[in-house]
Amino acid sequence: MQKIIAALEQRRNDARLGGGQKRIDAQHGKGKLTARERLDVLLDPGSFEEYDMFVTHRAVDFGMDQTIIPGDGVVTGWGTINGRLTYVFSQDFTVFGGSLSETHAQKICKIMDLAVQNGAPVIGLNDSGGARIQEGVAALGGYAEVFWRNVQASGAIPQISVVMGPTAGGAVYSPAMTDFIYMVKDTSYMYVTGPDVVKTVTSEIVTHEELGGAGTHTRVSSVADAAFDNDIETLLEVRRLFDFLPLSATDKPPVVAVEDTVEREEPSLDTIIPDSATKPYDMREVIEKLADEGDFLEIQKDHAGNILVGFIRLNGSTVGVVANQPLVLAGCLDINSSKKAARFIRFCDAFSIPILTLVDVPGFLPGVAQEYGGIIKHGAKLLFAYAEATVPKVTVITRKAYGGAYDVMASKHIRADVNYAWPTAEIAVMGAKGATEILYRSELSDKEKIARRTADYESRFANPFVAAERGFIDDVIMPRETRRRVVRAFEMLKGKKAVIPAKKHGNIPL
Ligand code: HXC
Repeated sequence: MQKIIAALEQRRNDARLGGGQKRIDAQHGKGKLTARERLDVLLDPGSFEEYDMFVTHRAVDFGMDQTIIPGDGVVTGWGTINGRLTYVFSQDFTVFGGSLSETHAQKICKIMDLAVQNGAPVIGLNDSGGARIQEGVAALGGYAEVFWRNVQASGAIPQISVVMGPTAGGAVYSPAMTDFIYMVKDTSYMYVTGPDVVKTVTSEIVTHEELGGAGTHTRVSSVADAAFDNDIETLLEVRRLFDFLPLSATDKPPVVAVEDTVEREEPSLDTIIPDSATKPYDMREVIEKLADEGDFLEIQKDHAGNILVGFIRLNGSTVGVVANQPLVLAGCLDINSSKKAARFIRFCDAFSIPILTLVDVPGFLPGVAQEYGGIIKHGAKLLFAYAEATVPKVTVITRKAYGGAYDVMASKHIRADVNYAWPTAEIAVMGAKGATEILYRSELSDKEKIARRTADYESRFANPFVAAERGFIDDVIMPRETRRRVVRAFEMLKGKKAVIPAKKHGNIPL
């Protein structure tokens, strides 16, 4: 018996060593943790249950039958984050560069199937040279099995990808189909074809970092949702994100104990709107003042800064926030901000997370580039996402709500449930200056007359009361009381039931 136990322990130790001490040292030398060390940071201490530690590949070509490493380059299983269940896989770059073989894929698929069956998220830690070259189509088939499961799981359980090393070629499409991608600065990159292929095909010369590093994907492409300085910080941020999310589509978002009171007033909000309509202010400050304990987990903070999206808690419950940011492009909606917010809204709706919308929007961004780029179709994504969402929706107009953007930003007409406005709100087809220039074009040479017309227009329309008189706004509220009013609105909406016409699925303008 002793001998058998010792043999088991020996096998476990061999598996834990992955590709060997030399490769582990090389991994550390790049400032990266190993696959198992990463899971130690991600999961609660002692909670990890590993599966398939003894699985090996079955390839024989290219001398592969002489190189068999237990675990086959990926550590899989389940554990907990602050006591809540999650399934995990963590690719081991020390074993064949973390490349994906048929059996490596089967290990990932096994835990994805368990996750869907049991209703808990999957967190994938990616660090891989892509398809195992020696296996050819068997590895490609393995990838496609993972892709198919990503799609089946989408909307059923949250899927989080953490890119912690190379992710190249078709391998990028598994993370791309998950709900959130976090990257590690300087040590991770994602691209469909690397710098060498790019140079051959297009003659462009770029580094790995420029082509697919964290800076590129968080700022330019928006493929990634956030990036952090190192493995540990990134994994701790994943834990923070996880704490906001429900375990599945049939679970309720978590409620945590908070110190903050519902009644807390914020007198500073009464003066945050500048006297001049063209002067910006920081909407992030408004969000932080409304949130429990000022905690705002922002998604895609480095991309399309004219809209802010992310998670807060109100009275302990998770709420998704979408807010125009007057500090960037005056808060206009454009292609990038529409896509960013639409995707976030759809995530919230899929997982029963109520949506708070803060509106200060002068309209859609004009310009040839926007029209050629398809602002019509991309702006429609945002409109579609809001109109389709059946979770409780509460909207607060802080200042401008002009034109089509008023309709789009969770107006009553597309079925927001509760719509408030601050006294500073201006709800109109357009700003006073633009309106008078169109209505009184023949008087444009008479500056005094035009100034009077503009003042007339402002006093008639640059306020929330025309909308409130029609019931499009449920109440005009004091800014300082916004937190209490919004929390109470969400409490009131807890029993919301929506009826959706029979269909297979809608056809969002992709
Ligand atoms: C098998 C691989 C591998 C792969 C790396 N290795 N990638 N083994 N299949 N895809 C092995 C190396 O042979 C090496 O083994 C070890 O992993 C570490 O690799 P290095 O090259 O020494 O590391 P580094 O210098 O850090 O470079 C990492 C890398 C590079 C940039 C990822 O290895 C690389 O370019 N690999 C190939 C990438 C690629 O073209 N993959 C296929 C993409 S197409 P030893 O024994 O020396 O330690 C694809 C299709 C998916 O994935 C399609 C889905 C639809």
